[in-house]
Amino acid sequence: MATAASTARLAVVLVDAQRGVVPQTARHMRISALFGVRSAVLAVNKMELVQWDRSVFEAIRVRFREIAHELGVSGVGAIPLSALTGDNLTRPAEDAPWHEGPTLLSHLEAFDPGESAPGESASGQPFRMAVQYVNRPSHHFRGYCGRVAAGTVAVGDAVRVWPAGTESRVESIAFGEGFRDRARRGDSVTLTLAPEVDVVRGDLLAAADAPIEVSDQFRGRLVWMDGQPLAVGRSYVMKAHTREVDATVTRIRHRLDPLTGQELAAPTLRLNDLGTVNLAASRPLPFAPFEESRELGGFILIDRTTNATAAAGIIDHPLRRAANLEWQDFDVSKRVRARMKLQRPHCVWLTGLSASGKTTIANLLDRRLTSGGGHTYVLDGDNVRHGLCRDLGFTEADRVENIRRVAEVARLMVDAGLIVIVAFISPFRSERAFARSLFEPGEFTEVFVDASLEACSGRDPKGLYAKALRGEIANFTGVDSPYERPEDPDIRLDTERLTPEECVEMLAELLDRGGPASAGDG
Ligand code: ADX
Repeated sequence: MATAASTARLAVVLVDAQRGVVPQTARHMRISALFGVRSAVLAVNKMELVQWDRSVFEAIRVRFREIAHELGVSGVGAIPLSALTGDNLTRPAEDAPWHEGPTLLSHLEAFDPGESAPGESASGQPFRMAVQYVNRPSHHFRGYCGRVAAGTVAVGDAVRVWPAGTESRVESIAFGEGFRDRARRGDSVTLTLAPEVDVVRGDLLAAADAPIEVSDQFRGRLVWMDGQPLAVGRSYVMKAHTREVDATVTRIRHRLDPLTGQELAAPTLRLNDLGTVNLAASRPLPFAPFEESRELGGFILIDRTTNATAAAGIIDHPLRRAANLEWQDFDVSKRVRARMKLQRPHCVWLTGLSASGKTTIANLLDRRLTSGGGHTYVLDGDNVRHGLCRDLGFTEADRVENIRRVAEVARLMVDAGLIVIVAFISPFRSERAFARSLFEPGEFTEVFVDASLEACSGRDPKGLYAKALRGEIANFTGVDSPYERPEDPDIRLDTERLTPEECVEMLAELLDRGGPASAGDG
């Protein structure tokens, strides 16, 4: 993975001589500092438009140095230049004899990254390597490929594999075409271990006497990079070193003012915002705090529906809250429960506008399945919102949390062997994708209960559309809150053309074929 965190050493900050230091300058400096950049060069461009006026340059330089100093960025160079003419870019500017420093190009060429970046200082750091790839060309060879993130490793060294914590020894170190006795930070190697232990991509290998941290709750800082703002509670894909987990921002502790660095309360983070957050991952993640290792403490968040990188961030430290929680395995499994009920557990997820027909279809399907001997349960938006979710309203964040809870409950019910029918508007693709991700393949059916907004507001059984259109209800789906149509549902039921009975017939047929079979199966 290449995030800014693992590559950048020096920030070149470009400032327009006519405009001086603007909020964006400070923002970029703050982002660079966040990702461990400790050196910067200020390039004051368009000097020809201010007649190479030294006082203009000096004023910008002073202001820039103040910001850099406050952010702990040292080694600040400053160069007046003209990108248009090339003056001080590649050759000295004749119009600025007062500038004694180098051109930008020679400054960059002479730059020495040194040892100043986080995780690169202490040469005595213990060995760490994230496994990028498990190389198994035959039954006789199993090698673990990756780049040494910290320390050194030698043949014969005792190592542990995290998150499992199992111990083994380094048997050989392949490097390029040959073998070596030892590898150090930055080397790309293939290690073999003896005895053989379970290692998968995303595991961390670490010196046996220097355990790595493993957690599923973190305090982190991130820069939001997506046009779509951060939704607290939404599940994103988190990529940290070579591991992928599902992760949720559970809380925005604060947003950082890019100019002053002041900590501000914030319900969300928008494009280019910097914030401090709590994160919860679906599975334990082995890591090192960013301060110790850029490679092992940086991450990105990916939007599930667009696959866009939504944020880049760093882990400051683990939150201990979940450290003592473990999954317990019980002897009576889902399989056993399902067999007793003579059915395949399943989640039928109905999504659609209010009044599209979800509740009607859920009810008919439920009757049909139970009369065939099925063990079912219906989770319906209006009902669940009276109890489990009565603290939630209809803002985006509340809907995200609403669906998260319902999806988790549905999973528990499927685990209990039931066929669960879920009828919620569930307007966002991300949360529907999250719901699906909780189930095993083939265990989840997404049903798009489709009727146009006109049809739904025409039906309006509860009079809610009329109220929403009069402005008496805020955030009403389809009126002033979005509904993201499913792009690829397992089945689409057009309730404007079909009767509820016909819809249920189609749905039951699909379920009989691949999903929850009726009594007698299993
Ligand atoms: S969801 O968006 O979070 O999935 P959910 O299915 O739980 O919504 O609840 C929708 C029901 O709440 C609707 O059927 C309607 O009766 C009621 N409701 C009240 N206010 C709203 C609103 N602003 N938007 C949508 N539904 C609302």
